[in-house]
Amino acid sequence: MAKTLGEVGDTYPRKNEGVCKIYLGFTPFVMLTRAQSAEALLSDNVNLSKPMTYRFFNKYIDGSLLISTGDFWRFQRKILTPAFHFKILDDFMGVFNKQAAKFVVYLGKLPLNEEIRVLRESSKCTINVIGETTLGHDVDAMSGENYYGRALSLLQALILVRSFRPWMWFDSIYYRFTQEGSLAKQCIKAMHGLSTRILRARLHERKEEAKERSKINGTLTPAPPEKKRLRTLIEILLDSHEQNPTLVPEKLVQSGVDLMLFAGQDTTATNLAWTVFLLGHSPDVQEKCRQELFRVLGPDPSSPVTSEHLKTLKYFDATIKESMRVYPPVPLIGRQLETDIKIKGDGRSFTIPAGVQVFVSIFHMHHDPKYFPNPEKFDPERFLDENAPHKSHPFSYVPFSGGPRNCIGQKFAMMEVKVILAHLLRNYRWTSTRARKDLKLVFEIVMRVKGDLRIRLEPLRPTERLNKENSTPDSLTA
Ligand code: HEM
Repeated sequence: MAKTLGEVGDTYPRKNEGVCKIYLGFTPFVMLTRAQSAEALLSDNVNLSKPMTYRFFNKYIDGSLLISTGDFWRFQRKILTPAFHFKILDDFMGVFNKQAAKFVVYLGKLPLNEEIRVLRESSKCTINVIGETTLGHDVDAMSGENYYGRALSLLQALILVRSFRPWMWFDSIYYRFTQEGSLAKQCIKAMHGLSTRILRARLHERKEEAKERSKINGTLTPAPPEKKRLRTLIEILLDSHEQNPTLVPEKLVQSGVDLMLFAGQDTTATNLAWTVFLLGHSPDVQEKCRQELFRVLGPDPSSPVTSEHLKTLKYFDATIKESMRVYPPVPLIGRQLETDIKIKGDGRSFTIPAGVQVFVSIFHMHHDPKYFPNPEKFDPERFLDENAPHKSHPFSYVPFSGGPRNCIGQKFAMMEVKVILAHLLRNYRWTSTRARKDLKLVFEIVMRVKGDLRIRLEPLRPTERLNKENSTPDSLTA
């Protein structure tokens, strides 16, 4: 269905008012493709439920923040929000840098004369990052089998197939009687295996640590200095579980952890891959980013990136934002209406009745020429221009969605992608080998492409780094 919706968006949105109705079998869906039409829905505090297709994830991330509704969603959002506090994210910078440096070494070992499949390779890095920040565990996808990444990507493809086939919509038929359902079950089992194993081990360790503490408190022995442990997402959830096991049962900790592993790695891998691909087509933008990085971070290509550095890298930031505009990693999102809603078109409005499933095409909103003139052009300068047309509408640019149900991990994602890309740009130069016009986009949960995105990589010579050390790119002096 995702692909069909993408095609519908291509056919209608610019001619009409950004609202169109489509049928899948006998089920009607509404699709919103422009900022003005999506605004009322995205900013709505009542219509926050997800459409039927999100239920296909129930077996994997049952009851989690992404698919829950009402007060239970609000409650989970409240518990999880502190896990994305800037102080916690700052601690994660060490993990981002470590995994980015490992990725640089990993890429250097790939045969230089062969094309690199960027989507496939970038997920190996982001899966390591999310494993370490969520579970405190290095999944080591760069040297191992990356079975988690493969299972996740297969599950997404299976869910796409399922959405097209109404007879597969019923769990009782899908998992019991179809080959796809049994494959999906295997993927879910493999993914749950990792999180369950680590959760059990951590629960056990925490119990032992608590016993040790109570022994020490009962004696006059001074407590040993506490082992400095990264405040990973699992620790934060386990703290809430310990404080209130009725409100936060173990099952909720498990689904929270599974959700982060799910929502936090394919999305960032996709963003990273599309940015690398676009830079491989724009040597000038690539060079400007590299120059800015050397100027801010100094000539050592392996020096760690800090959050202070990130604040000053303006052109680099604009480049990543523009990449998410051209190829939004999550191209479509949806809601199931609980109440009627009034949607704005051009000069008139439409009422969509309660019960209808509505999709918002972020992809088409990001290609609206009203806000992004010459929308196909990859042009980071749009995000440096204070008077750019898109700045006049808060919903014209929404890669992380907007309103109350926006992405909880957006700062995490931006920091991670920037750190990884900063390491790549200071060590390699690359060109993309597939033309943009030849790409066949696939609107899965994330924006994929048939046959992957491909680049050729060459290491940056040390003299190139040193020569650039003191120069200031034009964009920075403007
Ligand atoms: C470039 C990377 C990312 C993009 C483009 C992205 C995009 C989005 C979008 C569009 C939504 C709204 C989905 C919907 O309404 O159906 C969302 C929700 C969510 N994202 Fe992200 N995301 C990214 C990275 C992350 C990361 C790194 C994490 C966690 C570590 C994360 C966790 C979540 C969660 C938990 C939700 C559900 C929020 C809720 O329903 O309250 N995302 N994301």
